[in-house]
Amino acid sequence: MPTVAWLPGDGIGPEVAAAARDVLKAVEKRYDHRFDLREALVGGAAIDQTGQPLPVDTLALCREADAVFLGAVGGPEWDDLPPELRPEKALLGIRKDLGVYANLRPVKVKAGWTSASPLKEELLGDGIDLLIVRELTGGIYFGQPRERRSTPGGEEQALDTMVYSTDEVRRVAEVAFRMAGERRKKVTSVDKANVLESSRLWRETVEGVAGRFPEVELTHFYVDNCAMQLVRNPAQFDVLVTGNMFGDILSDLASVLTGSLGMLPSASLGDGSRGFYEPVHGSGPDIAGKDVANPLGAILSVALMLRYSLGLEYEARSIEAAVETVLGRGYRTVDMAQKGCILVGTRKMGELVAGEVAGTGSFLGLPRPEAP
Ligand code: IPM
Ligand code: MG
Repeated sequence: MPTVAWLPGDGIGPEVAAAARDVLKAVEKRYDHRFDLREALVGGAAIDQTGQPLPVDTLALCREADAVFLGAVGGPEWDDLPPELRPEKALLGIRKDLGVYANLRPVKVKAGWTSASPLKEELLGDGIDLLIVRELTGGIYFGQPRERRSTPGGEEQALDTMVYSTDEVRRVAEVAFRMAGERRKKVTSVDKANVLESSRLWRETVEGVAGRFPEVELTHFYVDNCAMQLVRNPAQFDVLVTGNMFGDILSDLASVLTGSLGMLPSASLGDGSRGFYEPVHGSGPDIAGKDVANPLGAILSVALMLRYSLGLEYEARSIEAAVETVLGRGYRTVDMAQKGCILVGTRKMGELVAGEVAGTGSFLGLPRPEAP
C-alpha cells in the first residue's frame, strides 16, 4: 500500500487538506485502492508543539513515504521568530532534503470559465494551458554566503547569493524538455542573462540540453519581458523553465490568470518517483477556519501525486475531470465568485469533487485500469 506523509500545516492548510482527503477517499472507493495517509506536524503547528518547524519525526516520515502532501504553513503568530525557526523553513527544508529540484506548476484556464480571470476574455483565447517548471532547491533561496554584516564604515549590510551550477540547470531543463515533448513541444527558458552571470550560465546550459530534444522548440525570455507577456499574451506559452526566485514570482502572476491563486496545484519532483505536493497558495490566516478557502489547488495537487508518484494516471485524470465538471456546473468558492455562480464553501467544494470522482470513469477516453 503506498504511504503518503500527510502534513496539513497551518491556517487554511487543514481545511484544504481535509477536502483533498475526501477526494482521495473517493478515489480509493471508486478504483479499489488503499492509501496509507500518515499525518504529521509541520510549520507553525509543529513549532507550537515541539519548538521546531520541521520536527525530526516529520522529516523521517517524509523520507520514508512514497509521496508527501502539504496544505500550507505560516501565519502572523510565528512571523517574529528568527529565520531558522520560521514555518517557511519547514517547506524549504523538505524540498532540499528530498532533493525535489523540479517544481511543476500547471496553469489551466478552460474556455468556459475564463470570466473568473481578471484578464479580458479575448486575451485568454481558447483557454490557457501552460506549465511552469521552477528550479526548487538552488539559486538565491539556498546560495551561500547569506548573512548580515557591517561594512568597515559601520553600515549594516545583508547579502544573499544567486548561484547555479551547470548540473542544477541541466537536470531541471531536462524535466522541462521531457514535459514539453508530451505537450505542445515548446520550451521558454526565463532568465536575466542581460545582467546576471548566473543567468548566462543558465542560458548556455539550457541550450545544451535543447540539442538533445530536437523536436522541442526553445526560446529565451528575459524575466521582466516574460512577466509582461504572461499578461499580454499568455496563450503563447507551453512550458516555462526558470530559476527558483523567478519561478516563485512568475507562478503567482500566472496563477491569477485562472481567476485565483487558490486554483494552482504543484508537484515537486527529484530523480526518483517520490514527490512533494502542495497547493501554490499560502496559509491565508485571515480566512482560516471560516470554510471559505478554495480547496481546488490542494485537490489538483493530489491528482498530480497520483500521476507522478503513484503511477495512477487514470485516477489523476478522473480528479481533474471532476474539477472541470464541478466548475462547469457553476460552483465557485468566494475567491472565484462571479455573477450567476453557485457559491460554496471549502467542505462543500471537496464533497462535490469527491462525488463526481465517485461517479466518473467512462468519459475520460482512456481504458479503465485493471482492478489491482
Ligand atoms: C511558494 C511560496 C514559498 C516559496 C514560500 C512560502 C517560502 O511562496 O511555494 O511559492 O517562496 O517558495
Ligand atoms: Mg510563492
